[in-house]
Amino acid sequence: MGLVPDDVVEVLFTEGQIRTRVQDLGRQISSDYAGRQLVLISILRGSVFFATDLARQIDLPLSMDFLSISSYGENSEGVVRITKDLEENIAGKDVLVLEDIIDTGFTLKYLLRTLGGRNPKSLEVCTLLDRRARRIIEVDLKYVGFEIPDKFVVGYGLDFRQRYRNLPYIGVVKP
Ligand code: IMP
Ligand code: MG
Repeated sequence: MGLVPDDVVEVLFTEGQIRTRVQDLGRQISSDYAGRQLVLISILRGSVFFATDLARQIDLPLSMDFLSISSYGENSEGVVRITKDLEENIAGKDVLVLEDIIDTGFTLKYLLRTLGGRNPKSLEVCTLLDRRARRIIEVDLKYVGFEIPDKFVVGYGLDFRQRYRNLPYIGVVKP
């Protein structure tokens, strides 16, 4: 699907650029986590496309789990709730949280506090996109796919009102 909808005003990363970057991340993670008990945790729904592509670029035994969260309202600073929890216990495991985008950092901060309380052996973050200019809460990101400017983006899993997740590239939508 190469079509760019009218309200997508700019393509930031093409399908090919994303594929190359995901391959790089997969190679790096394969080397960093060799010999460990890797669990990938994909945060629903935005990170699903990234997670399934990245997992296929990691040349290690691993397991995958999914966590769904929702924030209250539009400007819900840190008020996050788990709506679908993990299936497996992560105690003693090397956990890598996969996110679509880190913006203010509130969501991730909550997630890390919650997951950290379950005693994983290690807990790190791999985000496809990092919009650092809007960070309010400092969070430690082990792997970042791309840093992006302060624009709202869609595609490759990211939505605007549940639309555009299926675009194979990442683009900016009309404000
Ligand atoms: P944070 O808590 O402010 O870091 O918000 C992160 C969450 O907001 C992400 O997991 C996304 O679900 C959503 N989000 C933030 N920016 C964008 C965007 O540009 N496009 C789509 N979703 C976004
Ligand atoms: Mg999200």
